[in-house]
Amino acid sequence: MTPKKRVLLGVTGGIAAYKSPDLVRRLIERGADVQVVMTASAQKFVSPLSFQAVSGRPVRTDLWDGAAEAAMGHIELARWAEVVLIAPASADFIARLAGGRADDLLSTLCLATEAPIVLAPAMNRVMWANKATQANVETIVSRGMRLFGPESGNQACGDVGLGRMLEPARLAENLLEAPPNAGLLAGRQLLITAGPTRERLDPVRYLTNRSSGKMGFAVAAAAREAGAHVTLVTGPVNLPTPPGVTRIDVESAREMHAAVHRHVAAADLFIAAAAVADFQPVQVAKQKIKKQGLAVKLDLEPAPDIVKSVADMAKRPFVVGFAAETNDVEENARSKMKRKKLDMIAANQVGDGIAFDCEDNALTVIWPGGKADIARAPKIDVARELIALIAKRMPPAPGTARHSARKRRAAAASPRSRSRSRRARL
Ligand code: C5P
Repeated sequence: MTPKKRVLLGVTGGIAAYKSPDLVRRLIERGADVQVVMTASAQKFVSPLSFQAVSGRPVRTDLWDGAAEAAMGHIELARWAEVVLIAPASADFIARLAGGRADDLLSTLCLATEAPIVLAPAMNRVMWANKATQANVETIVSRGMRLFGPESGNQACGDVGLGRMLEPARLAENLLEAPPNAGLLAGRQLLITAGPTRERLDPVRYLTNRSSGKMGFAVAAAAREAGAHVTLVTGPVNLPTPPGVTRIDVESAREMHAAVHRHVAAADLFIAAAAVADFQPVQVAKQKIKKQGLAVKLDLEPAPDIVKSVADMAKRPFVVGFAAETNDVEENARSKMKRKKLDMIAANQVGDGIAFDCEDNALTVIWPGGKADIARAPKIDVARELIALIAKRMPPAPGTARHSARKRRAAAASPRSRSRSRRARL
């Protein structure tokens, strides 16, 4: 039996809270174990007893409740949760989250948990549209929290517009539906690079490129969804860390190379999605280079080729590279795959507003003896398809059914085993 998903349901003060006991039932029907936490204002709308009755667990309401803390302290509760769902999420609670407050139990839990946090906002349409609310929403989303809804329709106050909480059945389905590729990379260790690098010329200047890091971050998120443990080594980008991913920030190609080699021994899959600089300054000037100096000459040398250095290792992970090409995409990608000894390469056309710093991408994925096209779509969808292809091609993990089947096939194909079976037939 699969273990129940541990959902911490936060209920905040809004009229939509009357729907939350039904949400608890829907979550339980879908196999969740639900612990409800209510804010003080939520209790003005619904009684904690209703939630206790439907969840089968005492409801937590107070950071200062000695007896409840003795049973499961707030930090333990924050660790217990596999996902936190706030439904309804009021304008005030969203503002408190954006401000990083920890002045009641629910806000403290949100600060103390490493679990993903999902919010189902519910409020009057003017409150939702208010610039203050929108700025707070932007802040929490930029920190990696996700929103379900709100949707448009009739509101309790008589208005019609955007601000309704999604219906409980849809919330439960969105929260608990198995992610695409669930389990495909279960237990595998992925090391991935993303973003640009910055090669310093002097204390104020550097060489870099237009990579936003979005494709690499999407691949990291898709691999995590598929069950991999993910370490993401990233150059300077302006992106939230995908939930559950370990992030290492670096600046230069040299730093990225060092970080990769500190972690690569544990990896069974390495994906090089970073747009690493090809050249780095021979020396970083200690003082700002004067204009005449810049006009004269920049001394550059090749930056370390990170993906090649991994592919050259005696005991190496499955290695996937990217190739951003402006022309002859497939041909250039194939020769790059051979030159760098990659197991697979994901190639895309760049330039003229395609791929760099945008939300969509399309890929041609090539491996020795095969290829597949992934049609233009949002980067997360493209990343999911890429992960499915990689999972199919990389050597199976020891101990899995796929691994034993592959061993049996290899043994059957070996000359010794063929002569044994010939003898048996004679
Ligand atoms: O820049 P290039 O087209 O050669 O990149 C191809 C692949 O090699 C990409 O996967 C990129 O992340 C990787 N690469 C690297 N280190 C470099 C240059 C490229 O890992 N110095």
